[in-house]
Amino acid sequence: MARKVECLYCGQKFTRTQYSEHLEMEHTDEYVKLVERIKSALQIGDDIKYIATNNNITEAFVKKIEKQLMTFIKEDTTSYSPKNSNIKLLWEPENFKLETTTVWSFPDRGNWATHSGKYRGNWSPFIPRNIILRYSKEGETVLDQFVGSGTTLIETKLLKRKGIGVDINPEAVKLTKSNTSFEKKDSGEVEVHVGDARNLEFIKDESIDLKWKIFVIIAVIILLSAITFIILLHLYNNRNEGREVAMQAKEYKLSKPIKRGNMSLEEAIAGRRSIRTYSEEKISEKDISQLLWAAQGITDEESGFRTAPSAGALYPLEIYAAVAMVDGIEPGLYKYNPLNHSLLLKKSGDIREEIYNASLWQDSIKDAAAVIIYCAVFKRTYYRYRNRAAQYVYIETGHSAQNVYLQAEALNLGTVAIGAFDNKGLKKVLELPDEEEPVYLMPVGKRE
Ligand SMILES: Cc1cc2nc3c(=O)[nH]c(=O)nc-3n(C[C@H](O)[C@H](O)[C@H](O)COP(=O)(O)O)c2cc1C
Repeated sequence: MARKVECLYCGQKFTRTQYSEHLEMEHTDEYVKLVERIKSALQIGDDIKYIATNNNITEAFVKKIEKQLMTFIKEDTTSYSPKNSNIKLLWEPENFKLETTTVWSFPDRGNWATHSGKYRGNWSPFIPRNIILRYSKEGETVLDQFVGSGTTLIETKLLKRKGIGVDINPEAVKLTKSNTSFEKKDSGEVEVHVGDARNLEFIKDESIDLKWKIFVIIAVIILLSAITFIILLHLYNNRNEGREVAMQAKEYKLSKPIKRGNMSLEEAIAGRRSIRTYSEEKISEKDISQLLWAAQGITDEESGFRTAPSAGALYPLEIYAAVAMVDGIEPGLYKYNPLNHSLLLKKSGDIREEIYNASLWQDSIKDAAAVIIYCAVFKRTYYRYRNRAAQYVYIETGHSAQNVYLQAEALNLGTVAIGAFDNKGLKKVLELPDEEEPVYLMPVGKRE
């Protein structure tokens, strides 16, 4: 008899064939997440059997999703090709004025941010913009029970509100997720669920109650300890810098990158070589600052555009630095935060040996002053570019890595691009979140 699996959400037991059907019928939101998970796994080349076993479903079900993915992709590629991408520099309507009368008329449909008129039945983004600005404040929660293509939630995010969206149609939810997945400094957060607008209880639990609880906890802590209060206040003040910053106790602001060096671009290109042995000298804080800036630094404050190109400006790369011998920065694993040009401490200590073990024992890792680690969140690009996502992410990694190569050359440092490592092992060493995958390593050090 086939082994039964227990539903993670209600505890009932099913065969693997029945399980996916049960999720679709009874736990739609989880079902959509499962399908997305399978698609992402297929995108990054995971084996069908592995995906099926990992998710307690049949291989036939994974193949069905693969087939859907391929059909969807064929239809999707033209409208979401980079040429037609509607990600624009424009984050808000030009010369916008809040409506002051009861008669509203908007001759332009509005095409800023990710708004698009392609989805039938969506309303002009000028309408939610006016309503949100008039009836809510920054940081407040906006609920949209019928997300459609996400017009209201795009505005919610742009106007620094928290958005909760619901729609009974999984395709609408998918489209909304895609349209609200843009990265903009100081924007709000948006979450979207498949669900019935007549039953909103679960939304309350996940949002308003949670928010309320946070404030209660903060109030109690303030009463208990003045020191804790100062720390919390500091975290609270930094809340718009993103969860990463708020949760990190240690943030190193890196020195300002220079824009003019001692070597011409042509000389750097001509001199670039992969260098795998380094001296035991420390590199400077300025060196690591410059290298990380070359990798993913922001070069246009207004748009948030960076040193390396990115399909749809979706920026799927997350850069880490395993610091070992950098003057002024204590050894540890850090995440680079392009928004502040800073390093966020993930864990203390020199982890070169662990990276070396997960990277087929390549000596360049062990001897480096620091290792720049490229990780990627594939789904950021996948939401928009579907079957082209994986290739776009790898291409972007190459663009960025070449910047690091050339910058290292200009600083008279050595580096090498490393693609040979054990993904799972490295992920464990770096304690990466599920959604991040390691893609490239670049040890750097002083030349011998
Ligand atoms: C995708 C990719 C993966 C690579 N992986 C490694 C690696 O795991 N270890 C290594 O020492 N070099 C690695 N390299 C560097 C190549 O060996 C190097 O670029 C090649 O020998 C040419 O030398 P050059 O970079 O000095 O021109 C990799 C290069 C690329 C583009």
